[in-house]
Amino acid sequence: LRMFIPRDSGALAVGAEEVAATLLDQAHARQLPIDLVRPGSRGLYWLEPMLEVDTPEGRIAYGPVTSADVPTLLDAIVSGGPHPLRQGLTEEIPWLKRQTRLTFARCGIVDPRSIDDYRAHGGYRGLERALKMSSDAIIDDVVKSGLRGRGGAGFPTGTKWRTVAQAGRGQKYICCNADEGDSGTFADRMLMEGDPFMIIEGMTIAGIAVGATKGYIYIRSEYPHAVEAMSAAIEAARRTGYLGEHICHSTDSFDIEVRVGAGAYICGEETSMLESLEGKRGTVRAKPPLPAHKGLFGRPTVINNVLTFSAVPYILDGGAQAYADCGMGKSRGTKPIQLGGNIKHGGLFEVAFGITLGELVDEIGGGTLSGRPVRAVQVGGPLGAYFPRALFDTPFDYEAFAARSGMVGHGGVVVFDDTVDMAKQARFAMEFCAHESCGKCTPCRIGSTRGAETVDKIIAGDRPAANIAVLEDLCNTMKFGSLCALGGLTPIPVLSALTHFPEDFGLAPRRLQ
Ligand code: NAI
Ligand code: SF4
Repeated sequence: LRMFIPRDSGALAVGAEEVAATLLDQAHARQLPIDLVRPGSRGLYWLEPMLEVDTPEGRIAYGPVTSADVPTLLDAIVSGGPHPLRQGLTEEIPWLKRQTRLTFARCGIVDPRSIDDYRAHGGYRGLERALKMSSDAIIDDVVKSGLRGRGGAGFPTGTKWRTVAQAGRGQKYICCNADEGDSGTFADRMLMEGDPFMIIEGMTIAGIAVGATKGYIYIRSEYPHAVEAMSAAIEAARRTGYLGEHICHSTDSFDIEVRVGAGAYICGEETSMLESLEGKRGTVRAKPPLPAHKGLFGRPTVINNVLTFSAVPYILDGGAQAYADCGMGKSRGTKPIQLGGNIKHGGLFEVAFGITLGELVDEIGGGTLSGRPVRAVQVGGPLGAYFPRALFDTPFDYEAFAARSGMVGHGGVVVFDDTVDMAKQARFAMEFCAHESCGKCTPCRIGSTRGAETVDKIIAGDRPAANIAVLEDLCNTMKFGSLCALGGLTPIPVLSALTHFPEDFGLAPRRLQ
């Protein structure tokens, strides 16, 4: 009897380890031989810990399971009888069926510790094809797919790779940014824990394409399970000839090292990450020079997010056109969206660009967990805009969000009900920036603290009109005068709260344009 209980951190946080231990104990006591696999999560977090059982028809899901449920579950599984936690065939659960899983196709299905399982599910086909192609042809495929940086900024990946490929000979680097610091995001972590070989494969293809022999994956220290899973996968890939010298008996070499951050949000900014990788304090470097020209140790460097590298194996496995066929406008392919906050059905939802915010929150997310009306949704992490219900027709698309002064970012969607105080949320944005600022430039270092104080005055009713004018002026200074996105984007949540929820600042409601 083959069963699956995730080892994903999200599942562990709600008791997956206890359920797994009880299951093994009970099966032993019943002399029932079971093969328990510990994959990543399918991303249906409200059903975690989810237990799946292999059957000739496919995997059957049960959830959310507690240790106390295990005896009756085993009875039902052995007898083939009903059980209140039975969800039916996992693949037929509507929430999962509605998705287009290209990047998360294997997550929750394969054993993340087994390279054989990865290969059995189509893994390494992209690399094997890439090894027979020229650098130009690989990059052409990435360009053709329309893939843009999934970390948040959406820069065309093929263009970035071409810049590094054309940056002359000598040492070059591939850096995978796994410092997933945005509140409400967890897609990078899920992949590292659930399908680590795909990230390794994507980075290796990038290395071959641009002529880099060395890669680093920079993982935040808050992700110990991801660090462990990535390190184990890198070891396994080395042992089996998928990393190191002569990968897959070719003339190409590529190897990867894991580096663990120390908890600073700013180390997710690419140049701070480079400083940190070089063993220095994580402060932002001025651009130019771009990392593509002068990056790690002063050498040309490709820096991409986990999700960007993870999209590459599918694209190289003959899927460039299929990838480009999904999406809308200039946002091609799929976006792994993370639904969180006060939401009924939170989790990982991968879908082609173009789905509206309202569909995501109301239909897929099922509204709030509290059952109260949705009032605001923050999209794109702590630097993203707060959107009211009136903007729920915005499609998930880089340009459509930007046109409404918001951003898609890393795909985090955090839902708030009608008890939220948006003036306090605006204060929180300034406070967050003050706490996480690297201190290099004045608008961010000083402006964020002055911003929090000014919001406090507005909340206290101290000359609100004058202080709102000060706040707007300060936001403009931060937006145009900051060196990096932290100071430059903090005005987005602040101004969106002010624009869409003026009544929380003691102002009369405004009409939306
Ligand atoms: P950016 O727009 O400055 O750069 C985007 C990328 O394109 C960088 O890698 C840059 O080096 C590269 N690039 C730009 N011009 C290039 C050229 N001509 N040739 C080659 N490469 C070029 O944006 P930045 O500051 O890197 O990222 C800001 C974004 O980060 C925000 O929009 C936000 O969504 C996201 N973010 C994500 C977080 C996460 O946890 N994933 C946390 C915080 C912010
Ligand atoms: Fe540092 Fe803030 Fe300036 Fe960015 S904007 S360089 S985080 S002080």
